[in-house]
Amino acid sequence: NKRIGILTSGGDCPGLNAIIRAVVKCACQKGWEVYGIPYGTDGFLKLEQGQCCSEDLKLQEHGYDLPGILHGIDILQFLSGSILGSLSRGNPSDPAIAKMIIQGYQNLQLDALIAVGGDGSLDIIYDLAEQGQWNLVAIPKTIDNDVPFTERSIGFRTAVDTVTSALYDLTFTAASHDRTIVVEVMGRNAGHLALHAGIAGGADIILIPELTPQIDSELITNICLRIAQLRLSGRKFALIVIAEGVKNQAGAKEKYIGDYLAQNINEMSHKLCLSDKPEFYDLDKLETRSTVLGHIQRSGTPSSYDRLLAATFAKKAIDLIAEEKYNQLVVWQSGTVQSQSLDKVIPHIKQCHQLGVCPSPVNKDGFLVQTARS
Ligand code: F6P
Repeated sequence: NKRIGILTSGGDCPGLNAIIRAVVKCACQKGWEVYGIPYGTDGFLKLEQGQCCSEDLKLQEHGYDLPGILHGIDILQFLSGSILGSLSRGNPSDPAIAKMIIQGYQNLQLDALIAVGGDGSLDIIYDLAEQGQWNLVAIPKTIDNDVPFTERSIGFRTAVDTVTSALYDLTFTAASHDRTIVVEVMGRNAGHLALHAGIAGGADIILIPELTPQIDSELITNICLRIAQLRLSGRKFALIVIAEGVKNQAGAKEKYIGDYLAQNINEMSHKLCLSDKPEFYDLDKLETRSTVLGHIQRSGTPSSYDRLLAATFAKKAIDLIAEEKYNQLVVWQSGTVQSQSLDKVIPHIKQCHQLGVCPSPVNKDGFLVQTARS
């Protein structure tokens, strides 16, 4: 019988509760004990400092009962967020803090730990696991879909649905006012979310950092030209999706890249319509607005795809622990669930952080780049 821990770390996303539920169910079937660590690795700190006790953290005290049972109905996998809470990327770089976290882990006497995290938090947990000799299995989650070696991460598909639905809704107000609406989408340095939702939501222009790292006046002129073409063809509104990772020009005062782009389209379109070129004539009436979707992209009911992926990843994590195959990241590659050594994954993540970009060694970028270029 094993005693395992599970924690969720970094920014939340839809599907975390579905993973927790599936891990507990799979572990219970094997007769194992599961401890839910609150607020990522901070939970170990709290344990060490006596702020919580191990018995409070047990997730299977009543058979399969977990928090999230309402009138006897198991609603946990339908709920967004994390019942465990998620540490907001605090870095236990202070060796004294790291020592206490490791001690907290030892106090629980765990055989293994399942860490559900994105690239930033997995990097931190990997270092702690190395120092503390933890038996670690990681599950990738992030709406950014930028964890290397896996084509899919938990939360991504739900976020794509959320953004796609927002684009649909925005179409009607854009159309009523003959406006161009710029929609800023999350994703950190990656454009997966913007590209997938932009295509699915019928955006006219999609800007992602992999192809358009920075906005310059040539780009703004081209965007205005495209809007002018649309207007000449009778379509008076336009939707532009921009990933938050696209950079503005140095010295720009706008906090959000979407606001920056909208402001520049407004200014450039008014300038262009003063030129003699007939193709720009209609731009004098152009009104551009921007919308920053923000954290709504991290919430919302997890889609059936994310619930299925959560169940698949959780089962694989439990299988790996049963085989005592540790230091692994559960991944999705070529339509199957597999695992990849964290010794290979983490150096790649560190390199991406240094470069501020996220080239990926799996074919998810094949989809991204091929689709975006065509
Ligand atoms: O990594 C997920 C993510 O939502 C990014 O897309 C976004 O840039 C970031 O987290 C926002 O982080 P926070 O919630 O800490 O502001």
